[in-house]
Amino acid sequence: MAKYIVEQSGPLRGEVVISGAKNAVLPLMAAALLAEDECVIKDVPMLRDVTFMKEILTSLGSEVVELEDNVLSITTKDVISTEAQFELVNKMRASILVMGPLLARKGVARIPHPGGCAIGARPIDLHLKGLEALGAVITYKEDYIEAATGGQGLIGDTIYLDFPSVGATENIMMAAVLAEGITYIENAAEEPEIVDLANFLNKMGAKIKGAGTDTIKIEGVDKLNGAQHTVIPDRIETGTFMLAAAITKGAVHIVNAVPDHVKPIIAKLRECGVRIEVGDDDLIVRADLGPQSSTDIKTLPYPGFPTDIQSPFMAYLTTVEGSSTVIETVFENRFMHVAQLNKMGAAIETAGNKAIIRGDARLRGCQVMATDLRAGAALVLAGLVAEGTTEISEIFHIERGYEKFIEKFTSLGAKIKRIDD
Ligand code: UD1
Repeated sequence: MAKYIVEQSGPLRGEVVISGAKNAVLPLMAAALLAEDECVIKDVPMLRDVTFMKEILTSLGSEVVELEDNVLSITTKDVISTEAQFELVNKMRASILVMGPLLARKGVARIPHPGGCAIGARPIDLHLKGLEALGAVITYKEDYIEAATGGQGLIGDTIYLDFPSVGATENIMMAAVLAEGITYIENAAEEPEIVDLANFLNKMGAKIKGAGTDTIKIEGVDKLNGAQHTVIPDRIETGTFMLAAAITKGAVHIVNAVPDHVKPIIAKLRECGVRIEVGDDDLIVRADLGPQSSTDIKTLPYPGFPTDIQSPFMAYLTTVEGSSTVIETVFENRFMHVAQLNKMGAAIETAGNKAIIRGDARLRGCQVMATDLRAGAALVLAGLVAEGTTEISEIFHIERGYEKFIEKFTSLGAKIKRIDD
């Protein structure tokens, strides 16, 4: 199994260019299933999860071609299968996103229970509740979930989400674009990835209003056409490099970012004493100008503090002066990195969804395990400032979601390499 070997590195310095967003491109790729014509997606990050989605789409009948670096063409003249294969779906939870498009285009979708990062039970009841409201009949057959419209097609309705789930909002939106009549999604997720998907669907001929607010209105249309779209920059990758600058007391210029999408991270780092200069599409993060101290964090749906940055931020908080509190409200089991960070010498105690981090830890390199994608990033950040060598296993999690991870870090002066065991 491949590993990352991370050595204590000095302050990171230089410029890093952010890739297209993983969490935006996966729903965009699924949305391409809705049209017979070619869809072209630019700034696609070349990641494992994108490869998985390519394989799923190909198995359903799409022709997926890499036109050039980071540009994908997806054409689905006909959907030849309405069943997503277990081996593919099991690897990536986001594969559930083909359910809405399949149902809208073919009236039926068969999906195994999804996999992905083990950060909680992660049910899909809200996806199914929404699709049912649009007229789908859901049945459970062994490990599969089948949704079918029974001939009359999908019909618009008002759907209230008990929680603003990102995936459920996306799935329902993609089903509703071809439904008869008007659909309202209330208490919808407001993440930038939702807005990106709505923009793409509207280019394809959909009629969606209100994406980015808590109520999305979707007026059904008969057919969608192909379209071209550029993926938004990855706000979680942006946040990861902001924290890499902070934890190493470096100075990093982050290019191709949307500062508005990382407002809570900017605010919290400033509270800690990091200086951040905000441009139109870039950020300069300076942690080399003075001491930094603790802060408290509570994860929330957008525009609150992102759960995906909770573990990298916690790694940083172990190194600053004073005690910090982190409360995780989005996922119920997202503290698996705590045991790994403590193994490195951090002093973090947890009780339920609350973690108390004693600062000023003297981190030491040792063998640790990436328990999920963002936890893996947190361990890399800790490894950059830990004495000695940190050996991180299960790095496939990290490679699911960060493009050119090693290249980007080494270009900033990080001592990190990938080895095959
Ligand atoms: C997406 C992101 C992930 C991010 C998360 C929250 C992608 C591919 N992944 O995941 O990186 O951490 O948003 O910002 O975009 N829930 C239910 N029932 C459902 C669906 C969700 O109870 O039907 C719960 C989940 O268990 C979780 C919470 O809602 O506790 C948030 O999940 P959700 O917003 O759906 O996250 P994902 O779309 O899976």
